[in-house]
Amino acid sequence: MTANLSDWMGRPRCDQTPAWRELGRCFEQTGRAFDLRQAFAADSQRAERFGVSAPHVFADLSKNRLDAAATQALLQLARECRLEVHRDAMFAGETINTTEGRAVLHTLLRCPQPAPGDTVAPTLQPLLADVHATLDAMLDFAETLRADPAITDVVNIGIGGSDLGPQMAVLALDAFANSGKRLHFVSNVDGHELAACLKHLQPRSTVFLIASKTFTTVETMTNAHSARRWFEAEGGGALDIGRHFIGLTTNLAAAGAFGIRTTFGFWDWVGGRYSVWSAIGLPLAIAIGAAGFRDFLAGAHAMDNHFRTAPLAGNLPVRLGLLDVWYRNFHGFTSRTIAPYHSALRRFPAYLQQLEMESNGKRVDLAGQPLPYGTSPVLWGEPGTNGQHAYFQMLHQGTDVVPVEFIAVIKTRHDLPGHQPMLLANALAQAQALMQGKADSGGHKDFPGNRPSTFLLLDDLTPASLGALIALHEHRVFVSGSLWGLNSFDQWGVELGKVLAKDIEPRLASGDTDGLDASTRGLIGRIRSIS
Ligand code: F6P
Repeated sequence: MTANLSDWMGRPRCDQTPAWRELGRCFEQTGRAFDLRQAFAADSQRAERFGVSAPHVFADLSKNRLDAAATQALLQLARECRLEVHRDAMFAGETINTTEGRAVLHTLLRCPQPAPGDTVAPTLQPLLADVHATLDAMLDFAETLRADPAITDVVNIGIGGSDLGPQMAVLALDAFANSGKRLHFVSNVDGHELAACLKHLQPRSTVFLIASKTFTTVETMTNAHSARRWFEAEGGGALDIGRHFIGLTTNLAAAGAFGIRTTFGFWDWVGGRYSVWSAIGLPLAIAIGAAGFRDFLAGAHAMDNHFRTAPLAGNLPVRLGLLDVWYRNFHGFTSRTIAPYHSALRRFPAYLQQLEMESNGKRVDLAGQPLPYGTSPVLWGEPGTNGQHAYFQMLHQGTDVVPVEFIAVIKTRHDLPGHQPMLLANALAQAQALMQGKADSGGHKDFPGNRPSTFLLLDDLTPASLGALIALHEHRVFVSGSLWGLNSFDQWGVELGKVLAKDIEPRLASGDTDGLDASTRGLIGRIRSIS
């Protein structure tokens, strides 16, 4: 084990540090009864004090149930848990994903070519050269395809990280899309999805991107094979699979066996949910072009540098990750809602669900020992203002407190008068209403207020700012996962269901229910009686 990681492994568990005890005291003294209205009344500088700037993102943390003492104790917790040592181990390419024996180097994917004075470790420089060679080839391909008038539609077939990241980013940057190609995303093994997509396509003018890190994921492989059958049947066997099916994968051999001739590879040290920066980002590169994709990487790199170098107190991923620990482990809040006030960010909550819950939805430490405290909250959300007309009722007047994370963008890419001030006013008003509340007759019209929120503000939604926003969240998840002592980079929890599905599938045809529980047996019987 290399130096930084072994040092981090030797740290005390978070709940056994003096800082954790201090946080417990803070919570009892001021946290439990914390009142946001009083906090603002007592400190005219509160908004400034709790504002944190990072590349492309400003965060107003002031409407959170957090005071200076708790903030200091959280920063102390980060030090006692050796967060910076762990972070440096990640950037240095140490094998921090210990259960899979891998480094975690998605940050290298957005690192520019090494230049004099750069901080890329000499051991990583050959990898970086490889990263850039692959990126250049992938972007050349994107440009060639963009310029190809014979191709009108591009279908990305992938799931999880091989779908959520590129789909979210393509939607988010729709205003920058200038390829003239229609992009489609098929993820679900539910055949309705692929069938609905294929209905509108012609094989001759369609390119399929088969996106799968492993090239074994059953949903993706099933969809890929069905797409290929459709392509062969509709094309009368006259079209070239090698031209129309492209592989985005680390498993070059499996892609070749499928009949794919053009593959853009990546590396086992890129986790699926961290892979939008790799070949998995090809749909985005096709949509916005090579220069736009490079801007996207540059925005993320700026956030990486911020995370790597900014002092803890002014380090936005650190501050957000610490807030997450404070809320989960001291306030006992079990969920967080994401409210992007920009309709192009409508898939951002879904993207964050995988990023955060697949990374930190775990109950054991790196040695497999059960942990006695809560970890990942539940994340959910819809774009504003839609959420206001659905579940904001519960946020304002329900029995549970759910911290809200607003994401707003100042500039627009449309010229419809009146909409943007209305949108931003709604975001601000909701945060204000959650905090202020409103005393009425004490009944149905009473708003208790004191409901916390964070307000993330972007000047503009561009490739660079989106890159920074995503990287901010990646690092924030790293921070909370590191403090909790988790391996945020494996996902063993998804395996059992996959194995059981393999067992059940043939039973649906055969009717053999031996050894199954009574509920599953009953459901299989009912399904078979109808189908
Ligand atoms: O089942 C979970 C998972 O492994 C995710 O972590 C991953 O993003 C997704 O499946 C897809 O995996 P692949 O890219 O290998 O098809």
